[in-house]
Amino acid sequence: MQEHIPIGADHAGYELKQILLDELRRRGIEPDDVGTHSTESTDYADYAHQVAKAVETGEAARGILMCGTGLGMSYAANRHPGVRAAVAWNPEVAALSREHNDANVLVLPARCIDPDTARAILAAWLDTPFAGGRHARRIAKIEDVT
Ligand code: RB5
Repeated sequence: MQEHIPIGADHAGYELKQILLDELRRRGIEPDDVGTHSTESTDYADYAHQVAKAVETGEAARGILMCGTGLGMSYAANRHPGVRAAVAWNPEVAALSREHNDANVLVLPARCIDPDTARAILAAWLDTPFAGGRHARRIAKIEDVT
């Protein structure tokens, strides 16, 4: 069955989102584009919550977000239980966010990377499995805030 991945951006990430929509389709993945749909100024949290909610509820296994720095999107997405949203600025960070942190939301800093780097980050994140083992123990402790 074809995987659907929710993807969202604010105005600062809009152009990169359009590039990654094509890249996802090229890889046989159907993006569920939650917006934004233009470069008109908008609020990143509106899109972060939509994508993170889909991951939180299990409607989607993973999601993708982008804004100018990636930071606002990550703050909002990481408020959702079970969501591990990772800002990745190069393919190594993207791969480690999967291997060590089981990141289920990729966040890209659209104003800080070029399209080729973004494609390489996406590929590393999509293709790298979680290593489990000691990393599973560490992830479990993230929820332990008492
Ligand atoms: C929008 O100007 C910018 O603040 C936003 O895209 C993001 O970088 C926030 O974290």
